[in-house]
Amino acid sequence: MNGNKEKFDLLAIDDLAEVLPKLIDWAIRIKNDEEALFDFKPLDGMTIGSIYEKPSTRTRVSFEVGVGRLGGQPLTLLANDIQLGKSESIADTAAVLSRYVDCITYRCFGHNDVSELAKHASVPVINALSDMHHPCQAAADMMTIVERSANENGHVAWIGDGNNVLHDLVLASAILGFDVKYATPNGFEPNERVMSKALEIAKRTGAKIEGFDDPVAAISGAGVVYTDVFVSMGEEGLSGKLESFRQFQVNEELVSKADDNYLFMHCLPAHRGEEVTDGVIDSSNSVVFDQAENRMWAQMSILTFLCNEQAWETYWELR
Ligand code: CP
Ligand code: NVA
Repeated sequence: MNGNKEKFDLLAIDDLAEVLPKLIDWAIRIKNDEEALFDFKPLDGMTIGSIYEKPSTRTRVSFEVGVGRLGGQPLTLLANDIQLGKSESIADTAAVLSRYVDCITYRCFGHNDVSELAKHASVPVINALSDMHHPCQAAADMMTIVERSANENGHVAWIGDGNNVLHDLVLASAILGFDVKYATPNGFEPNERVMSKALEIAKRTGAKIEGFDDPVAAISGAGVVYTDVFVSMGEEGLSGKLESFRQFQVNEELVSKADDNYLFMHCLPAHRGEEVTDGVIDSSNSVVFDQAENRMWAQMSILTFLCNEQAWETYWELR
């Protein structure tokens, strides 16, 4: 499908570096202009296929509902039900699906798998979470921060594992010029190659990116406090990992060091009592459910941009 138009893949959030601020503003506009969706159907006649090798609540539901609101048809393919990984390669799966659908989203284990799918698909591919990147989450997170101008209250602080969500949070913050201080235990630092890329971007935008092994150093004066599970999907065998994170729980004492108006953010699902206490995640500073909602609006902006750029531009100009 998608004709001969050159396709654009979203594997990590910096793939969208040029257009990220506009994608976020677009998402905020359409969120506040729901009437627009009565007659704005940029995905009319299109099918968006989504492959999941890991469980999902937010990503799956926000893609299915968002695609429907844009006039498209969502098609969810659970790994156990398709030939991929059993009798068919990623390359052949990409070629076959490209004959049926207009865009493929893929939640996988190793990041190389989504790169391989993108290489062999003739339609746009969106990474719906790999072990290295979670760009759709970062787009929604930036939307949530921009909506509330939380970056004006202080830097973005990450307390926890050096994982996929941190990677794209740092890349996206660098693109938008937001300062980041992240604290990870020794041995659980983020990927060096991704951090070098973020530092390169930050040089252009003026963002300051700093890493610590002390949560207090990262959180002091923060406008945004972000954490995620300490043990990600696919790492369940590493439960001994939790031992290293004892000092990294985001609790009432730790957040008392942040700016008074700090936002608490978490991509969810949360392991309450582990990386965050109920007192923090249920506090009035917490915007975790806004983040979850914004997954849908941000992805609607991304899908429209990737699958029907002309309609994306037209909506922007008309509003
Ligand atoms: N945040 C996130 O990606 O959630 P799901 O795993 O439920 O999709
Ligand atoms: N780091 C987590 C994010 C879940 C949305 C994981 O990969 O499991």
